[in-house]
Amino acid sequence: MKLWGGRFTKETDKLVEDFHSSISFDHKLYQYDIRGSIAHARMLGKTGVISSEEADEIIKGLQGISADLETGKVELNVQAEDIHMNIEQLLTQRIGDVGKKLHTGRSRNDQVALDTRLYMKNELKETAYLLIEVQKAIVEVAEKNVRTIMPGYTHLQKAQPITFAHHLMAYFEMFQRDWERLYDCYKRTDVCPLGAGALAGTTFPIDRNMVAEELGFAGITGNSLDAVSDRDYLVEYTAAAALIMTHLSRFCEEIILWASHEFAFIDLDDAYSTGSSIMPQKKNPDVAELIRGKTGRVYGHLVGLLTMIKGLPLAYNKDLQEDKEAIFDVVDTVKKSLLVFAPMLATIKVSENRMYQGAQGGFTNATDVADYLVNKGMGFRDAHRVVGELVLWAIKEGRNLTEMTLEEYQELSSLFTEDIFQAISIEACVERRDVHGGPAPGKVAAAIDLAKKVIETNKRDI
Ligand code: ARG
Repeated sequence: MKLWGGRFTKETDKLVEDFHSSISFDHKLYQYDIRGSIAHARMLGKTGVISSEEADEIIKGLQGISADLETGKVELNVQAEDIHMNIEQLLTQRIGDVGKKLHTGRSRNDQVALDTRLYMKNELKETAYLLIEVQKAIVEVAEKNVRTIMPGYTHLQKAQPITFAHHLMAYFEMFQRDWERLYDCYKRTDVCPLGAGALAGTTFPIDRNMVAEELGFAGITGNSLDAVSDRDYLVEYTAAAALIMTHLSRFCEEIILWASHEFAFIDLDDAYSTGSSIMPQKKNPDVAELIRGKTGRVYGHLVGLLTMIKGLPLAYNKDLQEDKEAIFDVVDTVKKSLLVFAPMLATIKVSENRMYQGAQGGFTNATDVADYLVNKGMGFRDAHRVVGELVLWAIKEGRNLTEMTLEEYQELSSLFTEDIFQAISIEACVERRDVHGGPAPGKVAAAIDLAKKVIETNKRDI
């Protein structure tokens, strides 16, 4: 018979049994469920709701189940619907009637909210840890490339010269915002809902703070209706994960481009590339593509979760069971993506030559010619036009700006003198962009130093 079978006169239809059962996925929560139940039982014993001997028996029984589940000595039962009822049933099978006292003063509604929060607290930490590994990989590669000049792009058209380190450090900033989002989300996840009952608390003299403390929560939830129906923290995590995937995906897109024959800025390590079943020459950036591809499923879950919640009357509704497959998939996807991305990035081979050549083409120093004229007293708008004409001329001639003669420069403006060539060398163009946040090697080196300190703080805070 079902744990809730008292008021029923018929067996559940087989189709319904299968349809509403969640054990096939919520078994993932078993260790959190047992930890929560142990804390609950201890509190019931301490407050005298059950005797302390009964509490001890329950706790021992639960510890035994935990050990047996860990070693695969016991199987979960599909008919027992979900992980909560499975464990309660196992407990009663093992320790008899006293096991039936465990569920005093609680409901599966506050129980599942508790399990999910415990799970999420752990996964938030793991995700944050994996993010740090990616940050470390970025800093590691950036440090070696502070003077590696490459073209910077807008509209995927060559724009101005930058360095590879500068480009990489842009991603450091994105991942740091991601880290902060996870940290922030953790605060709102870190409250214990046990004691909210089904929706309206309980009549028993329970001690909610004792349970929260044993389980390592920073506090307890307020309103009981909100406590059992709140899934905001899952939406927040998924939104943070969606942005992490967005950043990974953009990075992957660039890695794919850079690894192409056309760019050939980088070469991926063999361990992080794959071959083709027909074309013997191929080395494909599958890992980067797959991360880019997996981004979509995380976005999908974000919309799925929001939609699941938006029409729900208070308090608990079974719709909320749909949160689990979504959040488990989000967690697995983002963690696996971060895990494989870090070493893929750390092992790339950088072609300084190709990047340098790239920076020399495409008139990336045109702005610097205009700035030169401005420094000699011309208004920027006039300088822009003069250099536009110069570029047009150079295009016709099939030359770049350093290959034009001084006489040609002077035909366009008498302000040009011999020092123009020094002023527009690619190295000078990068070196002089010495503004805070700019690509000048000194500024990027300082940004890298700061990033290392940020990584240490991140590590301390998780
Ligand atoms: N398996 C359920 C879930 O994941 C547990 C809570 C069930 N509560 C209920 N009243 N049916 O949401």
